Amino acid sequence: MCYHVVVKNSTLSNKVILPAPLAGWTDYAMRAVLVECGAREVWTEMINATALVRGNAKTIAMLKPVADKTVRQVVQLFGWEPTDFVSVINSGLLKDYAEVNLNMGCPAPKIIKNHCGCNLMRHVDDARRLIELCRTATNQTHQALSVKMRLGWDCDVAVEFARMCEKAGVDRLIVHGRLGIDGYRGTADYAGIARVKAAVKIPVIANGDVRDHASYEKCLAETGADGVMVGRALCGAPWKINLDDSVPTYERIVALMQLQKKLHNGNPSDLIKHWLSYQKQLKKYYPDQPVPVL
Ligand SMILES: Cc1cc2nc3c(=O)[nH]c(=O)nc-3n(C[C@H](O)[C@H](O)[C@H](O)COP(=O)(O)O)c2cc1C
Repeated sequence: MCYHVVVKNSTLSNKVILPAPLAGWTDYAMRAVLVECGAREVWTEMINATALVRGNAKTIAMLKPVADKTVRQVVQLFGWEPTDFVSVINSGLLKDYAEVNLNMGCPAPKIIKNHCGCNLMRHVDDARRLIELCRTATNQTHQALSVKMRLGWDCDVAVEFARMCEKAGVDRLIVHGRLGIDGYRGTADYAGIARVKAAVKIPVIANGDVRDHASYEKCLAETGADGVMVGRALCGAPWKINLDDSVPTYERIVALMQLQKKLHNGNPSDLIKHWLSYQKQLKKYYPDQPVPVL
């Protein structure tokens, strides 16, 4: 598997920094803005495999790839019907994506209730079957296959689960160091991620609470992972994908906001959300400058 290194100033070299899938955030426009900020790999938010199979136009629009074909693109799917995943992979709809990621970490009640996301960590046989079917399909399309997981649902099963994923043919794992029942509370358990890293041979990307250069170094040092994935820190501050603690000029932030607005192709309320979070950053770094209105 080809890794793109986006870190320039790190003392820990050759580690990847990936922007996390964030529902309601990592839309087409944000992915393009992340590329503008230096990302060499971008991820869609979780996309419903069944809605894609049924031809839902809004869901298909979520697949719009960034224009720069040198950027590696990953599509994240969720769902409960394995044959729908296979149909989507075979359909050609994902042709711009180098990697298909299976969401096994989302803890949202409506996702869990539908036997998707982190619920699959409680039903290992179902998770295995999904992975194996997707592996066979992605072998045909020459796409990589990965799983984004947590440490477990209500207890830490991460090592056994990760070993199962590896055996079922997954190319890499992204591990968010929390349990499903913890949502986003507390701090990520890097020791739990380290145990996964030590247990498998495939690359492991650590996720949880990385927001700046110091937390990036801490996460890598404590997990021994092959890279990190950054999520919430990027909302309104996509330049943090470089984790070098630099702050763009006022003019640059305004230009990124304008780009986000120009490219927005999704729900209008999502654009407002983006805009408000950019405004927050502007007020923090440039309190004396005017804040652009939408
Ligand atoms: C608003 C929001 C939306 C999210 N959407 C997704 C998603 O679509 N797919 C996914 O795998 N994880 C999703 N996550 C989890 C993040 O990808 C990431 O695992 C988590 O935020 C921890 O990383 P962080 O501490 O860097 O934010 C979401 C998290 C948040 C806060």
